[in-house]
Amino acid sequence: MKVTVSRKAHFNAAHRLHNPAWDAQTNENTFGKCNNPEYHGHNYELIVSVKGDIDPQTGYVLDMKWLKDLIKERVEERFDHKNLNTQTEEFKNLNPTAENIAVVIHQLLKPALRPEHELKITLYETPRNFVECAD
Ligand code: NI
Repeated sequence: MKVTVSRKAHFNAAHRLHNPAWDAQTNENTFGKCNNPEYHGHNYELIVSVKGDIDPQTGYVLDMKWLKDLIKERVEERFDHKNLNTQTEEFKNLNPTAENIAVVIHQLLKPALRPEHELKITLYETPRNFVECAD
């Protein structure tokens, strides 16, 4: 039987939603307040879920301390208290929507996991708005 284990984390970050290929009016019509040139912040809540078999030797799918440290190193230290548009490589040329942030987090974590483990990212941008992506 496959079992899913999950770790919650969070980071605070600023962003601006903007498509440089569009004029100012189209950007404002599309992104509204999120297009504010002065940026705005969110308290992002992240849930990282890993699905796999229970290791009969440990009784774990994986070591949660290891997962905690991985999220800290690859996600929190990269994005926490940053302006995503101006201070991160990942969003220099990618609109930092919740959808894109979730996909980037998936790409940052996936290579560290064992190939047989399935990874799902759940990202809350607000308490009521969240996105999911999984391999
Ligand atoms: Ni926003």
